Amino acid sequence: MNNTLIVTGCAGFIGGTFTFKALSMGYKVIGVDSFINSNPSTVNKIAQKFPEKFIFIEEDLAKSTNQLKQSINGIDFDAVIHFAGLKAVGESEHEPLKYWENNLISSTNLLSLMNAHKVKKFIFSSSATVYGDSTVQPILESNNIQSTSAYGSTKIAIEQLLKDCARAGLVDVISLRYFNPVGAHQEMIIHEDPYDMPNNLMPRIIRVALNLDKKLHIFGDDYDTRDGTGERDYIHIDDLVEGHFKAIEYVKNLKGFEAFNLGTGQSVTVKEIITCFEEVNGIPISHEYADRRSGDVAKCFADPSKASDLLGWSTRKSLEDMCLDSWRAVKKI
Ligand code: UD1
Repeated sequence: MNNTLIVTGCAGFIGGTFTFKALSMGYKVIGVDSFINSNPSTVNKIAQKFPEKFIFIEEDLAKSTNQLKQSINGIDFDAVIHFAGLKAVGESEHEPLKYWENNLISSTNLLSLMNAHKVKKFIFSSSATVYGDSTVQPILESNNIQSTSAYGSTKIAIEQLLKDCARAGLVDVISLRYFNPVGAHQEMIIHEDPYDMPNNLMPRIIRVALNLDKKLHIFGDDYDTRDGTGERDYIHIDDLVEGHFKAIEYVKNLKGFEAFNLGTGQSVTVKEIITCFEEVNGIPISHEYADRRSGDVAKCFADPSKASDLLGWSTRKSLEDMCLDSWRAVKKI
């Protein structure tokens, strides 16, 4: 092991934040991104800060792995961290083929390359979406797996692919099932882009705070939840990223496949997060109720005890930190 990682999707919010932290900790990183769903600015910022230890390859792994193959020849890697993938639930329902092609084919191509190169340790960015509309809350990893969108189906299928490969002894895998990542890391260099018509709640709150949108639409006020709005498990990106470093340690001695929830275990409603954002940042967020968004579930929050017991991981940051840091990163304050 020589402290070197392959990171796919390194230009995205989560992959970029992870890459920044990994480089800060002394890892060398070979990063890959196609820019299908991101832009070069994050990669440029990382390359400027860490010119020695970061190699970037622009490649769409669903189409080819030739460039990555050339770059990794003769290098030993600790692990591959596979963030790359399309993630907009609504879009996936209209363009399922795009999602299956991108998410599945890139994963099989990457696994073939890793297998040829004898990189066995694999960390996968999965999602709480694999639990679908679970009646049991909080959710344990042993919960039923079910899809509520084409996007969700691709996450479930990739986990199955990884289980099959792990059973055959080709890889040892940790699948990290993310709940709702928000916030920004301390250096504030990488953050979600509110200008890029986001679908997720926090960047849409930021759009209202920036006056880019007049109002936030709250999708549904008649769910069976504390106040009628959707309940989720928001997790600070720093805590989420920390879970990956714990996973890199754990996978060293792992044989097979393990899935872990990365969430706080606390549910927060849409109204509660808006109120928290308003209070900590002193900015009113105009909002109005709208119809439920198709494919949304009422509640989704984690039981994170498996990650705590086996990885020695737990979250440290509060909802206030998440609201403060999301805003500070955009405003650079
Ligand atoms: C969804 C997926 C998740 C995926 C994530 C990434 C499910 C169950 N979850 O998370 O797996 O990784 O997208 O894109 O499929 N909301 C509003 N107004 C808005 C935006 C959101 O009220 O303008 C509400 C939603 O109805 C929901 C909550 O805010 O109750 C969170 O929504 P969002 O940030 O989009 O995340 P999820 O839908 O939970």
